[in-house]
Amino acid sequence: MKIGVIGAGYVGLSLAAVLADKGNLVTCVDRDREKIEQIKMGESPLKEEGLDILVQENIEAERLKASSNEENAIKDAKIIFIAVNTPTENGQIQLQNLKDAVKTATNYMTDNYPVLAIKSTLTPGSTRKEILPLLQENGMEPGEDCGVCVNPEFLSQGTAIQDVREPDRIVIGELDEKSGELLSRLYSDFESPVIRESMETAEMIKYASNSLLATKISFINEIGNLCKELDVDIYDVAEGVGMDSRISREFLDSGTGFGGSCLEKDIEALISLMKNRGIEGSVLEAIMSVNESQKVKPVEILEERIGSLEGKRIGILGLSFKPGTADVTNSPAIDIINQLINRGAEVTAYDPEANENMKKIYGDIEYSETYTEVLEGSDAAILVTDWEEFNNIDRGDLKKMSNPLLIEGRKIDHNAPEKFTEGVTWP
Ligand code: UDX
Repeated sequence: MKIGVIGAGYVGLSLAAVLADKGNLVTCVDRDREKIEQIKMGESPLKEEGLDILVQENIEAERLKASSNEENAIKDAKIIFIAVNTPTENGQIQLQNLKDAVKTATNYMTDNYPVLAIKSTLTPGSTRKEILPLLQENGMEPGEDCGVCVNPEFLSQGTAIQDVREPDRIVIGELDEKSGELLSRLYSDFESPVIRESMETAEMIKYASNSLLATKISFINEIGNLCKELDVDIYDVAEGVGMDSRISREFLDSGTGFGGSCLEKDIEALISLMKNRGIEGSVLEAIMSVNESQKVKPVEILEERIGSLEGKRIGILGLSFKPGTADVTNSPAIDIINQLINRGAEVTAYDPEANENMKKIYGDIEYSETYTEVLEGSDAAILVTDWEEFNNIDRGDLKKMSNPLLIEGRKIDHNAPEKFTEGVTWP
């Protein structure tokens, strides 16, 4: 099938590469010309496991193409995926990128009943209220000249390819049966269950899923705060709780809370939508408030242990919002560094992937190429991201600090003696 993809970010490019690999002819477009040039050369502009090889193979096989000219992607395409980002400002989702992409699509759609499939995250009701009128304004009558589907994406960074190839479910929110049929046909050789719903239901499934994941995290963090007081290990508790198949162990890792570009943004948008409708979002508000206080807990614990941080040199191990990515969006590391600077500490940091990205936020702190370099000469340290390599930390590493103490924002499997370490929500 001929497919166009507008937006070659994590969602757009991973989808384009997987669909091309399944034998479709996929062309992706993006405003970022540099990105497009890289894809054309068979390279992935994004660091994501498995994406580089998939891009290379499918560019070589000429199933995947990249272009800066939208017409090349959209003309004759049966399905045009829109995967541009929808940022939030003051909790309100900003639709300009999406609207631009839809307008562009209408300029070049030629196929008989092409379907616009929206991957971008939109608050429930937005596709009907904002996108359908826009299509009409641009001379395309939805349901007559073209179809529309909301097809939310549930991929996580670090496992994007696997998540696109074998999602737990494929959700199709369809304007009409014809649109849904076409998208179902595209996914017919995927092994995942497909559910077909209204556009609003599909939009809500995405928000409810992300909010529930965040709920699990804030919940286990709150229980973790109590566990720590009682000298109970929250990870043992999570193990026992997670064995209940109704609950599952997933998303019960306690620590400094959630970061990334989706969970926070989606909850804020949902809270804002609730406010507009006069509904109290007290659970969602609580999730955010627990998360905010959780992010800076390591600094509070550090201060309790070593007193004033003024003039102290504090090491940070891990900067990305989770392991396996260079992305620092909403990473707890940002709040932790901010708190340390406010308290007069000198900060020295290391991340295997994210040093360069954090330099754009904090250009003035010191960055190292290894974690041992950070520990050398630090008074104490905070572990923020549970990168695999930190499991190698041992007594010798910690003894490099003048006051051997590692506050752990994530639980890792290191060999260091307990007296030199303290968890955020575990002893
Ligand atoms: C998330 C959703 O999982 C995905 O379905 C959606 O499409 C996009 O948003 P992502 O932001 O890539 O994906 O990361 P995710 O793995 O969900 O982690 C988000 C944050 O939660 C990270 O900071 C992570 O460290 C934290 N987290 C995750 C926890 O604190 N505890 C956990 O048990 C799991």
